[in-house]
Amino acid sequence: MNARDRLIVALDVPSVAEADALSERLAGHVGMFKVGSQLFSAGGIEVVRRLVARRERVFLDLKYHDIPNTVAGAMDAAARLGVALVDVHALGGSAMIAAAAKAKQDRDTRLLAITILTSHDAATLAELGLAGSVQEAVVRLARLAQKAGADGVVASPQEVALIREACGQDFLVVTPGIRPLGASRGDQARAATPAAAVAAGCDYIVVGRPIIEASDPAAAADAIVAEFASATAR
Ligand code: C5P
Repeated sequence: MNARDRLIVALDVPSVAEADALSERLAGHVGMFKVGSQLFSAGGIEVVRRLVARRERVFLDLKYHDIPNTVAGAMDAAARLGVALVDVHALGGSAMIAAAAKAKQDRDTRLLAITILTSHDAATLAELGLAGSVQEAVVRLARLAQKAGADGVVASPQEVALIREACGQDFLVVTPGIRPLGASRGDQARAATPAAAVAAGCDYIVVGRPIIEASDPAAAADAIVAEFASATAR
């Protein structure tokens, strides 16, 4: 995989028109476009269809968490759209993850699991009745997801090494919370630079605001790729 293919840009914009314009400006500068619940709820399925028709790779980030039968149906529909990555919450359990993995059949769509959202801490895990530290829960859920048939996980930069150790080299690790050198952190409390995240062993990095709010998004994307291109290649 070349360096640019590792960069996923989050199309976190409120309208289809903005997503279309942004994705056209970024074509050829990034490896994949992430469509999350904000854009999807604003009509993003049309954006997904147009991106796939333009042969762009898409990460459909809707974090499914429902009964296995319903998640299987959602996964089947997502795989038919032709997206590259889809995610579910590992907290939905192994039967749900296995149903999603089965539903994508032999299509090229890869299934990711969210372990513990980075918005949680030890206190909110305890509130939910989850035992142990955040890191223990992340590793436990990554192992569970792998056993149930997920192709990888979404994880914070701080968790990449632990997940690699627990799940091996072939398990995909996708890392948001990326801030280029000198960029504003926004609300990302546990951020890492692109080079640090790649050096820690992630396969893909997800970047939103540092690219989509830049005055020249394509130049910002190129600068980020240049920043991690020289980091340890996997
Ligand atoms: O703008 P920023 O670079 O912070 O965007 C990061 C993207 O990654 C957003 O779409 C956000 O929802 C997503 N994400 C995250 N942390 C997670 C999972 C997803 O920031 N744990």
